[in-house]
Amino acid sequence: MCAAAYLGGSISSAILVCRLFGYPDPRTLGSNNPGATNVLRIGGKPAAALTLAGDVLKGVIPVLVAHALHMGPFIAALVGLFAFLGHLFPVFFQFQGGKGVATAFGMLFALHWLSGLVAGITWLAVFGLNRISSIASLSAFVVAPACIFVWLRPAFWPMVVLSVVMILRHRSNLQKLLRGEELGFKKKD
Ligand code: G3P
Repeated sequence: MCAAAYLGGSISSAILVCRLFGYPDPRTLGSNNPGATNVLRIGGKPAAALTLAGDVLKGVIPVLVAHALHMGPFIAALVGLFAFLGHLFPVFFQFQGGKGVATAFGMLFALHWLSGLVAGITWLAVFGLNRISSIASLSAFVVAPACIFVWLRPAFWPMVVLSVVMILRHRSNLQKLLRGEELGFKKKD
């Protein structure tokens, strides 16, 4: 089950969507991250929305399958963690994947919808304040393990591992933030 989740997670929506739309490989432009945020920078909203949907589903589907097989919250979270790791280190794309935020949201919503909702609201609130996707994502996934600790304790440690890996994966964003060079989105007038 974990292997299947990893293989599903390895399907990079951003790279496939960019190929479909005739855009450059997202690993070569913008933040060089194959994720919805960078596809929005490179290609625009339709391509970004498709990328987001694909990446979220990679997290949702394996966790729902784990639930359907009555695997329990720890195993379901572990399966979701492997989908997330597939996105970060995709076997089909030279192990050069993204930061896993959309896939992590997918697994979180499927694991415990209320925790997903709280993390989602955190993302929207923080993004609304500063228009920087990375700060919003990191804030959401500091909040997520706290929610899981309170509401779904058996899934806590896989969730902690996911959040720590995600924070480490945002090293370049954190360095850019410290230098004041992080890429944000302008507010609409
Ligand atoms: O969704 C990933 C986000 O946290 C950062 O993306 O492209 O700004 O590095 P990016």
